[in-house]
Amino acid sequence: MYDGNPQTKGDKMAIGNKQQWQDAFEAYKALIHDPRYDSEYLRRTGLVPHMIELIGDMRRLQVLDAGCGTGWLFDAITPLGGCECDVVPPVRRNNSRIRSHCQDVCRLTYDDDSFDLVVSSLVLMWVDDLYGAFREAYRVTRPGGRLIVSLMHPYFHTNGHVLHNGSFLIDQSVGSREERNVMISGIVGPLTYYSRPLVDYYNAALQARWRLVGFRDHFIDMERYRIETVDRVKFTHRTDKIPLFTFFVCGKDT
Ligand SMILES: C[S@@+](CC[C@H](N)C(=O)[O-])C[C@H]1O[C@@H](n2cnc3c(N)ncnc32)[C@H](O)[C@@H]1O
Repeated sequence: MYDGNPQTKGDKMAIGNKQQWQDAFEAYKALIHDPRYDSEYLRRTGLVPHMIELIGDMRRLQVLDAGCGTGWLFDAITPLGGCECDVVPPVRRNNSRIRSHCQDVCRLTYDDDSFDLVVSSLVLMWVDDLYGAFREAYRVTRPGGRLIVSLMHPYFHTNGHVLHNGSFLIDQSVGSREERNVMISGIVGPLTYYSRPLVDYYNAALQARWRLVGFRDHFIDMERYRIETVDRVKFTHRTDKIPLFTFFVCGKDT
C-alpha cells in the first residue's frame, strides 16, 4: 500500500509496472503486516471497513478482485463465486469457488458480463492506462452490476506534505504526472506511480460508460492513531486535515 511517503532513488528508469511489482511484492507483503510501520493500522481501521461496507452482502454475487495483491478481500469475505487477478501471480487458493489468475487489469481475458461486482482496491494509481482499466472492468461487469474503487487520496501524496503542526500544505500544482522510482514507506519499490487529480479518475470512468453512484473519503482519527501507533511506527507524517483514502462506486446501466 502506498502510504504517502514517496522517496525517490536516483534517476533509474522505470522498467515497467509488471516487473516492478513482481520485484517489490515480497517487500510489500511484509510491509502491510510489519508493526514498525502504520500500513497495517491504516488498512485495518480505514481501507478494509469502508470497502467491506460498500461491497455489502456478496454471498450471492460473482465478484472479480482486480489487482488483488495478497488477496485480503477473499480472505475477509466469501462471494458466491469469483476470480482474483494481479500482474503478480496470486497464490492459488484451496477454494473451488475462487479462481486466481495472473492478468493485467487493462487487458482482462474474462468474458463480457461475467461479474456482478468488480473491486479495484489501491490499484489504479499504479496503472498507466486508466481508461483501459475502467473499460475492461465495464466490459466484464454484467448490466446492473457495480465497480468499487479505492485509492490513496490523490491530495495526500504528490501535491504537498504534512507540517509539524499537523496541517497540510499543498505546494505543488495539481496535475497528472508519472513518478518513477517511488518507494512505499522507503522500503517497497522502486515503482512507477501515476499521480492524477481525482477528476481524472471520474472522467476515465465516465468515458468508459460507468455512472458514478457513490463517494466517500476516509480521514484518520488522529487520537486513535496516536494511541495505537505510538512507540512503534518509524515515522509519523499523518494528518486528519485531508482524507487518506477515497472510495467511489460506479454502476453499469441495465
Ligand atoms: C497497493 S497493491 C493493492 C493490492 C490489493 N488490492 C489491496 O487492496 O491490498 C497494488 C496491486 O496492484 C497490482 N497491479 C499493479 N498494476 C496492475 C495491473 N496493470 N494489472 C493488475 N494488477 C496490477 C500490483 O501487483 C499490486 O498487487
